[in-house]
Amino acid sequence: MDTAWTNELSIGNAVIDSEHQNLIVMIDRIESMIKARDVSSLSQELEQLEHSLCAHFVNEERLAEAVNFPFDKNKQEHLFVLKEFQRMKDELLAKKGAWTDSAAKDYSNFLSNWLSGHVIRRIC
Ligand SMILES: [Fe+2]
Repeated sequence: MDTAWTNELSIGNAVIDSEHQNLIVMIDRIESMIKARDVSSLSQELEQLEHSLCAHFVNEERLAEAVNFPFDKNKQEHLFVLKEFQRMKDELLAKKGAWTDSAAKDYSNFLSNWLSGHVIRRIC
């Protein structure tokens, strides 16, 4: 993954920044596990990422609501990403490591592209 945390990515909220940093680290780990077909570690890490994504989105939505920031479009994006993530997670776990290198790259690209867009474009 090409995304690495820098202070330029900060949105000025310590909780959200910390969650974004954590998501970067988790997705980097997951991409390595996908590449290595480390299914037992991957299962646990995907569950943790799903939990972290849900918590992060709730925090962002609460923060936006608290400052009356229009967030409907972002909420829709959150729902879409969670649905796509769950689809990908189920597919990965069902394959039990039997995915091609090309599929591994597709899974990684989905995660990296979403994360880059979310954190770098500051969609939140
Ligand atoms: Fe975010």
